[in-house]
Amino acid sequence: MALPASCLVILIMACYSSRTKGCVDPFVQNFLGVVSNSTEDKPLFLDYWLSGFVGRGIYHSVTDSGKEEGVFLTPDGTTVALAPLLMGIEAGLQQEANSPLSGLYPVTLAKNLGLSFLHFNSSLISEKLGPDGCWDNVTSPKIFTLSGTTSGTTDAWINGGMDGVILGRHLSGLTEHPLKISNVLEGYYCHRVEGLGLDAAPHLISTLRRQNFKELANVSVLQEQVLASLSVYWKLKGEAERVPQTELQKIVQEGVHEFVHRYMECPTIISRCQWGARPYRGWPTRLTLPLSSMFIHHTHHRQPCHTFQHCAEKMRAMQLFHQDDRGWDDIGYSFVAGSDGYLYEGRGWQWRGAHTRGHNSQGYGVAFIGNYTVERPPQRSLELVQHHLATCAVSAGRLVGNFTLHGHRQLVNTTCPGDGLYLEIMGWEHFR
Ligand SMILES: *[C@@H]1O[C@H](CO)[C@@H](O)[C@H](O)[C@H]1NC(C)=O
Ligand SMILES: *[C@@H]1O[C@H](CO)[C@@H](O)[C@H](O)[C@H]1NC(C)=O
Ligand SMILES: *[C@@H]1O[C@H](CO)[C@@H](O)[C@H](O)[C@H]1NC(C)=O
Ligand SMILES: *[C@@H]1O[C@H](CO)[C@@H](O)[C@H](O)[C@H]1NC(C)=O
Ligand SMILES: *[C@@H]1O[C@H](CO)[C@@H](O)[C@H](O)[C@H]1NC(C)=O
Ligand SMILES: *[C@@H]1O[C@H](CO)[C@@H](O)[C@H](O)[C@H]1NC(C)=O
Ligand SMILES: *[C@@H]1O[C@H](CO)[C@@H](O)[C@H](O)[C@H]1NC(C)=O
Repeated sequence: MALPASCLVILIMACYSSRTKGCVDPFVQNFLGVVSNSTEDKPLFLDYWLSGFVGRGIYHSVTDSGKEEGVFLTPDGTTVALAPLLMGIEAGLQQEANSPLSGLYPVTLAKNLGLSFLHFNSSLISEKLGPDGCWDNVTSPKIFTLSGTTSGTTDAWINGGMDGVILGRHLSGLTEHPLKISNVLEGYYCHRVEGLGLDAAPHLISTLRRQNFKELANVSVLQEQVLASLSVYWKLKGEAERVPQTELQKIVQEGVHEFVHRYMECPTIISRCQWGARPYRGWPTRLTLPLSSMFIHHTHHRQPCHTFQHCAEKMRAMQLFHQDDRGWDDIGYSFVAGSDGYLYEGRGWQWRGAHTRGHNSQGYGVAFIGNYTVERPPQRSLELVQHHLATCAVSAGRLVGNFTLHGHRQLVNTTCPGDGLYLEIMGWEHFR
């Protein structure tokens, strides 16, 4: 479901109420305490309808047909599971002065990650985490279907868990608690990047989830938290630790390594289904990886796009133009950068694009939405491409480590990517 942020306050207040109904397991109670259901302690009276709604909104599950429940579509186009978000906030609010935030990682990410790593130990590394999914309708979302088999720690759970850690940490650091959590959530999920642009946006917004999480999280601490959470989990279940400690450490280390690569190093890429792409026409040609280059373009749109809805609209219009007017099979670019803080999937990692005539098999074509003849894209968008997308591609074996970066104009008779953007990329490490 899509929830306006103001609705979320009801969910937060109802969080305690749903915990009394046994939605939450002993593991969470171990860290966050038991919620009493005596009348005096009840933080909020919920009527029958509302508590049913809240129960459905919070309870996370994946059905046999691959539908993920307990998740919502945020205004920035990403999907978030409510349970780890709310538990992270609760852990943050419960913190007593100067005590460490002991429950924050266990209730948001650490236990789920540990169980996924173990349960999917014999699967391919790429199947141990995720996947993302698609909403039935982006403007009026009701059903979220995963794009592959579930690992137990879906992308939506990870998004919610990261937000829970970020907001939990933020709230625990405040000397006075804000009167309304809804204001915090609204600022976090509903910030509109306009006017002054992405670079002037506050630090604490959902678009910067991965960058913020990366600043907070320490890989060795994350590993320890996963191991400690598994140990508490088994103890509460009365089960002996069946996996020898050295083997467990190895599994967790590999799993955390994959988590860091996929969710901290790689940027969020808004998938085709999420921006409402039409299908590819005909049969795509598979690229032979790793590629040796990255080509930078601008789309020459008069205005950049600052919101998910606006960027998604431009993606659809470009695809239409490339397919219907140019007669290509699909949108030409491999990836597209908006000024909303996200990258959008064009032809993606596997398929040959139509971006740089004569060189489409050698490199990925990455375009910035806007006209960069004079101006430059926001610094935060440039960093997504220069650092996150490139590093992610190299460590996944999709680009060679010494790949070369070029502007479109170096290979084709064109002014693209505009003087402003071209001057910028001339300073990048891989530019040749
Ligand atoms: C909470 O309510 C349930 C059923 O309404 C009851 O079984 C349980 O004992 C109560 N717990 C507490 C701590 O009062
Ligand atoms: C994990 O997988 C490895 C290699 O496939 C295997 O040797 C090991 O026994 C497995 N461990 C567990 C706990 O399943
Ligand atoms: C999505 O939902 C809206 C509102 O109900 C509707 O107008 C629109 O046609 C739907 N889009 C698709 C692709 O079904
Ligand atoms: C991560 O935490 C460990 C243990 O607390 C500490 O020794 C290490 O310096 C930290 N690493 C970073 C990069 O902060
Ligand atoms: C792009 O910007 C340049 C310089 O401001 C301007 O001359 C040109 O007309 C713009 N192109 C479009 C399509 O808006
Ligand atoms: C990149 O490295 C490979 C092998 O390490 C080498 O063969 C190739 O020439 C290098 N390419 C460039 C452009 O330097
Ligand atoms: C490049 O394109 C411009 C404008 O379309 C044209 O005037 C010029 O002759 C072209 N140069 C070459 C080398 O093809």
